[in-house]
Amino acid sequence: MRSIVFVLFLFTKSVFSHVALRSGRWCFGGCETVVNYANFNDTGSDSKKVRLCEGILRATSLYLCIDEYCEENGRDAWLQDTNETCHQRVNASLPPHSIIDKYGPEERAEIKRLSAEEAFTWPTLSEIVIPDVKIFERAFRTLDAAYFEYDIHRIYGYAMLYFWAIVISIGIGSRLISTMQSLRQDEWQRASIDLEDSNHMPTSHSICSRAKASLKRFITVPATFNNRCSQPIGWCTIPTRVQSLTIFAFVALNVILCSISYRLTDGNLYWPTYREQLLRYVSDRTGIISLINFLLIWIFGMRNNTLMWLTGWGIGTYNNFHRWVARVSTVQAVVHSIGYTIMVCESGEWSNFRKYLTKHYFWNGELATVFMCALLAFSVYGIRRSHYEIFLTLHIVFSVIVLLTMYYHVWIFGFWEWNSFVYSCLAVWIFDRVLRGFRILAFNVRFWNTKATATYDTDSHLVSLRVPCDNSWLRPQPGTYFYIYVLNDLLYMHQNHPFTLAYVSTDIERPDLQLPLSPLSERPSTHRADSSDSSESDALLQSATSSSNKPSLVFLIRPYDGFTSRLAKRAATCRTSLRVLIEGPYGHTVPLRTFQNILFMVGGTGIAVPLSHFSSLLSESSSVASLRIVWAVREHAFLASVLRVFRGLFEDECVELEVHVTQDVENKDDVPADRMKGVKLIPGRPDVHNVVEEVASEAGYERLAVVACGPARMADETRKACVDMLGRGFGGVEYFEECFKW
Ligand SMILES: Cc1cc2nc3c(=O)[nH]c(=O)nc-3n(C[C@H](O)[C@H](O)[C@H](O)COP(=O)(O)OP(=O)(O)OC[C@H]3O[C@@H](n4cnc5c(N)ncnc54)[C@H](O)[C@@H]3O)c2cc1C
Ligand SMILES: *[C@@H]1O[C@H](CO)[C@@H](O)[C@H](O)[C@H]1NC(C)=O
Ligand SMILES: *[C@@H]1O[C@H](CO)[C@@H](O)[C@H](O)[C@H]1NC(C)=O
Ligand SMILES: *[C@@H]1O[C@H](CO)[C@@H](O)[C@H](O)[C@H]1NC(C)=O
Repeated sequence: MRSIVFVLFLFTKSVFSHVALRSGRWCFGGCETVVNYANFNDTGSDSKKVRLCEGILRATSLYLCIDEYCEENGRDAWLQDTNETCHQRVNASLPPHSIIDKYGPEERAEIKRLSAEEAFTWPTLSEIVIPDVKIFERAFRTLDAAYFEYDIHRIYGYAMLYFWAIVISIGIGSRLISTMQSLRQDEWQRASIDLEDSNHMPTSHSICSRAKASLKRFITVPATFNNRCSQPIGWCTIPTRVQSLTIFAFVALNVILCSISYRLTDGNLYWPTYREQLLRYVSDRTGIISLINFLLIWIFGMRNNTLMWLTGWGIGTYNNFHRWVARVSTVQAVVHSIGYTIMVCESGEWSNFRKYLTKHYFWNGELATVFMCALLAFSVYGIRRSHYEIFLTLHIVFSVIVLLTMYYHVWIFGFWEWNSFVYSCLAVWIFDRVLRGFRILAFNVRFWNTKATATYDTDSHLVSLRVPCDNSWLRPQPGTYFYIYVLNDLLYMHQNHPFTLAYVSTDIERPDLQLPLSPLSERPSTHRADSSDSSESDALLQSATSSSNKPSLVFLIRPYDGFTSRLAKRAATCRTSLRVLIEGPYGHTVPLRTFQNILFMVGGTGIAVPLSHFSSLLSESSSVASLRIVWAVREHAFLASVLRVFRGLFEDECVELEVHVTQDVENKDDVPADRMKGVKLIPGRPDVHNVVEEVASEAGYERLAVVACGPARMADETRKACVDMLGRGFGGVEYFEECFKW
């Protein structure tokens, strides 16, 4: 029964295809393809191109074929196009369509039919022919499939852009919603706080807020698995769960779109077997998607990433996206290159490959793939970590090479067809560099003339850099970071590293903040002369008394091996001013002011983050009621100098500072902590989980911001503790990470 239906189906189908006229350009193209198998010898011209345009026999055969198999719709336009091409290429015209008017139905029936067998011998003919229906069908399907693939490759390529457009829209949307909610909640809470004073248990008010808490607990806050997010696992770093899910969806989308919609046809005239068709289509698909992914790689990799401003996602998030899009794109490029190499090798022997290697587009394509792989290889975490400058230089050089070779690779398609993506990447890059320039100029129009003072303190092993910012157009915001170049060293002038603004020196002196003590005026001027041993560490935070009236940005910098160690040496040997170039500010301010409770979990120089937020958080308009800082620091000297400068702040009644000094004990006596109300000195490492638990319990149902800025391990522990608290029903907990990593 089934076979009868099948036969019936085949029968109706073949009858149908005999009768039905094909429509569209693939029908005309199909006729052209078949007619071009024959070589008509009626024109004297040697040039094949001229013969293809002028030949009367060819034109007649072509027009008869079109009349027989194709709908008339669109025919004239197609002929006109082809005619136009003939005019442009060889200054010849197609004979007019009217040349077949003289053929009536009987004459047509007598015209020789061109079969596939004959066509494949590339015959020379001296008479008109009409392709028989079989070969015409084959030609039509070949073109139809080939162009379908070409279109679908492009559509699937654009799907990558749409995917990220959706991700970014979700980011912008959720940012808007949470901003609005925090404003509303604020009012609501202010109104209800008196009524519900006794109720300090965490309560979930509605399904909506419960859903939000679950979302935070299971999706947005936790690490992907294993509670490791900032700490690397081997040579890998694993992003947070929500990022991993996004990345996974992106990779899956790429795998799927590279594996579906292959229209394989029997009797394909270009690529006879399914294998050849698949090889060709897969190679093209991966090549095209790879190129379109380029644009995303460049957008996500830029320092001046507009999306960062829109979504509020940090540099780390986009770096993860940048890496994963690049990996996917590279794998696609490799598949593309291998596919084409196989095709070339199979179409002839080894010599064929050598011949192709002399073609510009071919060897440039192969080179582009090789350099993309090299880019990946030199970007592994280990190299990035231990040889940052080498990584950066190679990254830039290789990227230039990749763009350039890509440009020549797709040049054969014309100026714009695919090169538009290469130009777009270039445009993104230029945009970034121009904005960097603007930021430098905005900080100081006479950018070469910013003179900073660097002080190195051996006890705390810390450099403090004080940069006058009175020329800056942009008011520095808390939590932002700046890239710093040191111009004194010609050799290393190009190197620039990010540092978070610790504080603006006038902030702590501004009278409108109503802080009880201002460090510079309060300290007795004799102090410095008296105790010469502590002047070193004091100077760390309060150098350059002469310029103290001018506002200055202060950075606290921990020296490592490269840039920072040179800075430390320079600061240690000569106290003279440094010529620096400041590019910034970058990053956005986390909206901490809208929270009632804030906990900072910081380690070492991470203290810069809470310090920079201080003046904004303690101002009248913020809703912060309790602010707790848990700070793990190795050196007493560091602690001592911070306390000296910020003494006033720590005496504010809603501020609590819990310090864990984990290493040296030498300068213990320097620390005036016991004399300060809000400061507690606790030996040993902080127990992150306990602290978060305590603070969350105190906060109850109020909103609590937990900000981690410290060593990777600490950040991960804090993250985990927040997830646990969310699990226990403290839905108001919000986790932020301001890690010094990328
Ligand atoms: C947004 C942000 C803010 C930062 N704020 C501060 C701060 O306030 N105080 C502070 O002491 N440090 C801060 N850092 C870290 C600081 O940028 C690096 O310690 C510094 O770049 C190391 O330079 P180096 O040549 O001495 O490093 P190396 O000795 O070569 O390497 C030390 C470590 O720093 C990493 N690193 C090197 N260059 C960079 C770079 N350009 N960007 C990021 N990491 C890098 C390396 O991978 C390595 O892990 C911040 C980093 C970021 C991303
Ligand atoms: C094109 O061909 C015509 C004759 O066929 C001739 O008159 C004309 O000059 C040619 N034009 C060019 C640009 O060669
Ligand atoms: C092509 O153009 C020439 C002159 O421009 C014209 O005579 C001829 O009819 C055209 N052929 C077709 C098929 O339109
Ligand atoms: C074309 O080829 C046929 C034989 O195939 C020959 O008889 C004829 O003379 C040729 N015409 C020209 C113009 O070369």
